[in-house]
Parts: sequence; C-alpha cells; structure tokens
Amino acid sequence: MTCTINGKTVETMVDVRASLTDMLRNDYHLTSVKKGCEVGECGACNVIIDGECYNSCIYLAVWADGRDIRTLEGLMGPGGELSDIQQAFIDEAAVQCGFCTPGFIMSAVEILESGREYTR
Ligand code: FES
Repeated sequence: MTCTINGKTVETMVDVRASLTDMLRNDYHLTSVKKGCEVGECGACNVIIDGECYNSCIYLAVWADGRDIRTLEGLMGPGGELSDIQQAFIDEAAVQCGFCTPGFIMSAVEILESGREYTR
C-alpha cells in the first residue's frame, strides 16, 4: 500500500489484519498514537485521515491505501517545536494523566480545521 504519513509518501507491505495503530507505532515509530482501549471508545489512538479524525485502533492499515494520515508528530515544527494547539493544551493544563492527550489534540485539530461552528 501507499499512503502519506505526516507529509511523507510511503510505500509498504502490511498484514491485512493489522490496525493502523499497529502500523504507525511498529513500522514508523509514531508513538504518539497510543493503544488504550483498542475498541474505538477512548480516542487515545486518534489520527487524522484525509482531514477527518479516526480511531486508528479500529481502522485497518490497508484502508489507508492512498490516504493522507496525520499524527501528533506531524504537527510539530522541523526542529521539534510544539504547534500552537500543543502549547495551548500545556498552557491550559488540558491533561488528565496525559496518556490520551495526543488523541485529544488530534480531535481538536480536526475541529479547528473543519471550519464548522461549535457550541459549548
Ligand atoms: S485505543 Fe481507544 S479508541 Fe483506539
């Protein structure tokens, strides 16, 4: 399969049973993609695929063929600088234990980039 991960085009072989979480963590060492519940409930594994946030634990890696995938690592600057949204989470102490924070941030990015108006 071929896809784009954080702006880089990659071509790879994947097990048809593998989740996108496993591919991103094991093959590309993108460890911001956390394994929490692994049943699509907690959001710790959230990534953005073609502009929409998905639970990567219940998304097969092969479904990502031809798609654009973004993880928390892709938000950072070239020197590892934090993005504005990451800094905002720090400034507002918007963490619990921190494990799922990358997934929360990717959900926030989807909301911000969607252009949709949200209410409280
Ligand atoms: S690990 Fe909980 S939703 Fe994916």
